[in-house]
Amino acid sequence: MELPTKLVNLSLIQQLREDALARIASAETKDALEAVRVEVLGRKGALASFSKEMGRLAPEERAEAGKKLNAAKQELETALEQRLAVFEQEALGRRLDAEWLDLTLPAPGPRPGSLHPVTLIQREVEDLFLSLGFRVLDGPEVETEYHNFDALNIPPHHPARDMQDTFWLDGGRLLRTHTSPVQVRGMEQFRPPLRMIAPGRVFRNEEVDASHEHTFYQVEGMMIDRDVSVAHLIYFMQTLLRRIFRSDVTVRLRPGYFPFVEPGFELDIRCLICDGEGCPVCKQSGWVELMPCGLVHPNVLRMSGVDPEEWNGFAFGLGLTRLAMMRYGIDDIRLLQSGDLRFLRQF
Ligand code: PHE
Repeated sequence: MELPTKLVNLSLIQQLREDALARIASAETKDALEAVRVEVLGRKGALASFSKEMGRLAPEERAEAGKKLNAAKQELETALEQRLAVFEQEALGRRLDAEWLDLTLPAPGPRPGSLHPVTLIQREVEDLFLSLGFRVLDGPEVETEYHNFDALNIPPHHPARDMQDTFWLDGGRLLRTHTSPVQVRGMEQFRPPLRMIAPGRVFRNEEVDASHEHTFYQVEGMMIDRDVSVAHLIYFMQTLLRRIFRSDVTVRLRPGYFPFVEPGFELDIRCLICDGEGCPVCKQSGWVELMPCGLVHPNVLRMSGVDPEEWNGFAFGLGLTRLAMMRYGIDDIRLLQSGDLRFLRQF
């Protein structure tokens, strides 16, 4: 702003005031506003130099000019403050826009998980058997040799022990190779009549491939009562399979040998992966072994303190892992324990 060349007078003050107000109104930034303030209101600014000249005015002019000068000063200070407030308001508005939060968005954090396919099948099997009056029992994964073998009519050196490659632990204990020891534990704990299932993890020292794992899941089932026959066994197994596969599946029964049942059977189902065409899961045979079963051997009843003259029963061992594979069309058992979320999220 040019310094006044003429002696200060009312119209110069008026002009300075108008110029300054216009500049304040059109200032785009805080810096531009500050420049106006320094030039006009600052210690060496236009108003200050006007004040210095006041002394040279005639007294009657001086009073009038002084009033005008003070009024102009106050007016400009107010205008500056207001303009500054506008800038600050705008800056706040921009910040609020940038930092805006949608409080209705779902909270970030871990995604909800899902149940493992084997767990899903296990729960279905449990629900079904609970509705049929069975108890759901648990047994230890670290077992005694007695419960895993001897009490199931598999004495030492019996060739059947070689059928199940066993992980032996210190002190003669082992990782259970099947859920059948829970048959024994069930009879030890509860007197007949008894209906029980025992889902759980079992372990075998096996070569791993598309259909074999060293760790997998079975469900043991057992019913001890008077006059139990193979017809009862078939009824419960068909009810189970119809429920799990939600339709009739093709099954076949073959003789099977297990020391703890007599007679013993293998129940196979037509492979649901390939519909009997042959694939790695059914080892190209079109059939999958699903349920070994039979009537409980009298020796097993006797060893657990149940009189075989009065009681008999059936037992089955269901491959829960294999059942999950059939149900969900999983063609490689190794996926189940891979921990791969791309696989697990599908369930
Ligand atoms: N425990 C046997 C196995 O795992 C299966 C089975 C259970 C057979 C019950 C007959 C009766 O091979």
